[in-house]
Amino acid sequence: MDLAQLTRDLESLAVEAAAALAGAPDVAGIDALELDVLGKKGRLTGVLRGIGALPAEDRPKVGAVANHVRAQIEGAIAQRRSVLGSAELDARLRAETIDVTAPGRPIRRGSLHPSIESMAEIARIFGQFGFQTYESPEIEDDLTNFQMLNIPPDHPARDLWDTLYVDIPGYLLRTHTSPGQIHVMRTVKPPIRALLPGRCFRYEAIDASHGSEFFQVEGLMVDEGTTMGDLRGLLVEFAHAMFGAGKRTRFRPGYYPFTEPSVAFDVECLVCGGAGCPACGRTGWMTILGAGMVHPVVLRHGGLDPERYQGFAFGMGPERISMLRHRITDLRLFLENDLRFLGQFR
Ligand code: DAH
Repeated sequence: MDLAQLTRDLESLAVEAAAALAGAPDVAGIDALELDVLGKKGRLTGVLRGIGALPAEDRPKVGAVANHVRAQIEGAIAQRRSVLGSAELDARLRAETIDVTAPGRPIRRGSLHPSIESMAEIARIFGQFGFQTYESPEIEDDLTNFQMLNIPPDHPARDLWDTLYVDIPGYLLRTHTSPGQIHVMRTVKPPIRALLPGRCFRYEAIDASHGSEFFQVEGLMVDEGTTMGDLRGLLVEFAHAMFGAGKRTRFRPGYYPFTEPSVAFDVECLVCGGAGCPACGRTGWMTILGAGMVHPVVLRHGGLDPERYQGFAFGMGPERISMLRHRITDLRLFLENDLRFLGQFR
């Protein structure tokens, strides 16, 4: 090894490095090249290992050449790195650009089921009259669903409620929310203003106006001196809040074993305004609920003294009310859960 050879080696390293640098595709390639040529165990160090074999006076000369070559390669690397680096940054910025003018993606919003929406509205209106909402079980015993409500076994009034029984003797799926009256009277002291919304079940052939599963909202008010006039005033206010101020209403005589007297409560037909149309069976009226003064037998079963307390109760179908409000003609739509139907009630 002599001075001339070492100098040539260093110069050819510089040329090779420059060529490799020109071919480096990206910043990562330059990093690798830098390590390979200038690293601690790199090629430049390798060449300089030969320095030890040179005469002492030649060593500084090689050192000078080596420093020059190193500086040259470092400069080239720095320059190439900045060129490639800014190209990469440009590409990334271009790829990651957000188009702030693009229209937003629509957010899919849920909506309340029309039965639920109606029940919420019913609870809101009666809430303004001090009625509180209570819950009552869907599986009832025969005693509470019927007998406590003045419907003895084998009484013909049972024909009003075709019943689905469960396989526990004496138990059934409640056919109406009225048994909730008994639970409330036994739990809450008068004055009572209770609303009992819930699902009911009947053994019915299903058609446009009958379902085997539906909701009811039961109302119960019990206090000293409660009268039928209170019931009437409350229901008229409710009808106006629900269907529109000034809508005409009427009481008709009805029959329920658990109320005496019993009434049906009608609102003028919302479709024809009372003139008579197919929607109201040409009567001009639509029945929205049954009601009456709580029968003394029922009060007694609720643990209350009928000599001291009087009350009224009513029971309505939120599906029916939804049908009237939204001009829906088929009850089956409420159970099918077709989003095209449900999405219309926002
Ligand atoms: N429970 C009755 C039914 O299912 C509805 C009803 C009528 C409830 C009159 C009442 C009432 O509280 O007073 O048909």
